[in-house]
Amino acid sequence: MRVLVTGGAGYIGSTVAQRLVETGNDVIVFDNLSQGHRAAVPEAATFVHGDLTNREVVDHTLAEHRPQAIMHFASHTLVGESMEEPFLYLDENVRCGVNLMRSAVEHDVDRFLLSSTANLFGTPERIPIDENVTIDPGSPYGESKFILERALHWLDETEGLTYAALRYFNAAGAAGPDRGEDHDPETHLIPIVLEVALGQREKIVIFGDEYDTPDGTCVRDYIHVLDLAQAHILALDALDDGSRVYNLGNGEGYSVREVIDTARRVTGCEIPAEEGDPRPGDPPVLIASSDKIRADLGWAPEHGALEDIIGSAWEWHQRHPNGYQGMS
Ligand code: UFG
Repeated sequence: MRVLVTGGAGYIGSTVAQRLVETGNDVIVFDNLSQGHRAAVPEAATFVHGDLTNREVVDHTLAEHRPQAIMHFASHTLVGESMEEPFLYLDENVRCGVNLMRSAVEHDVDRFLLSSTANLFGTPERIPIDENVTIDPGSPYGESKFILERALHWLDETEGLTYAALRYFNAAGAAGPDRGEDHDPETHLIPIVLEVALGQREKIVIFGDEYDTPDGTCVRDYIHVLDLAQAHILALDALDDGSRVYNLGNGEGYSVREVIDTARRVTGCEIPAEEGDPRPGDPPVLIASSDKIRADLGWAPEHGALEDIIGSAWEWHQRHPNGYQGMS
């Protein structure tokens, strides 16, 4: 299949683009490189340097490459940032997604995969979080993804656009020694902890230690980026049988302290840590139930152990302490 991957130069998008190439698809990566890296785009993919705010460019790309499916990763994705700059999310994330959907409809693309988020569930009424838990986004970021999920729901009803929304819990780990996470600035727990191990930072600050959790720090469900990628391959195939939404995680939660302790074991480094203030927008506990995608598509995580997730990221960080800088 010919698949357009927006954000295909980013951490998750490039990993999925690589898996799409490996499974025999033609891939067109569309990315403005504001967060992504040219070196992360798979060699076999066609690269279009463009911005989703510009509908002409989006239309032109679809007319020229005639994709049969679109996977939409390009997005602002930070819970904390969205609490400080809500319009990046409530305006830009939404506008870019809707621009892309409109072009998809106008160019007869009828398969759409949306990269959605666990932040749809800000205060979940039960844990683990299945697809029937009430949606109550935890931040403008989560809200922006929910708005896009609803837009897809209506475009399925009115235009026959079949979609899958995959709600990731905490994507982590590296897809290989030469493909990993590289954000600037880095805000995610595991890469920051590993930067401390590498001596690039002095310490890790724990954002809040008085949450209602076993050790007082936030609990998250870390899922290996390769397991996420596999879910996209399966979901794309399944679109022939209709639209669907899935929560995607390992089903196990680890606290911030447990992540730091595991990283100490994996790296053999001390990793100094210090307690700090909570970060606005952070829900105390997010753990997925992925029973639905397991039952429907036979998906199962193959790299679920936290040691493996952190170990793969550690290999990437050691080999590429400056990320994609200098890679081609
Ligand atoms: N944390 C710290 N110190 C840091 C960085 C993070 O204590 O320096 C804590 C956070 O407070 C949080 C946990 O580590 O409790 C994980 O934080 P991340 O920033 O790594 O990830 P988030 O849970 O905030 O968000 C990630 C993605 C979102 C996605 C969400 C889904 O960035 O896009 O997972 O759970 F929505």
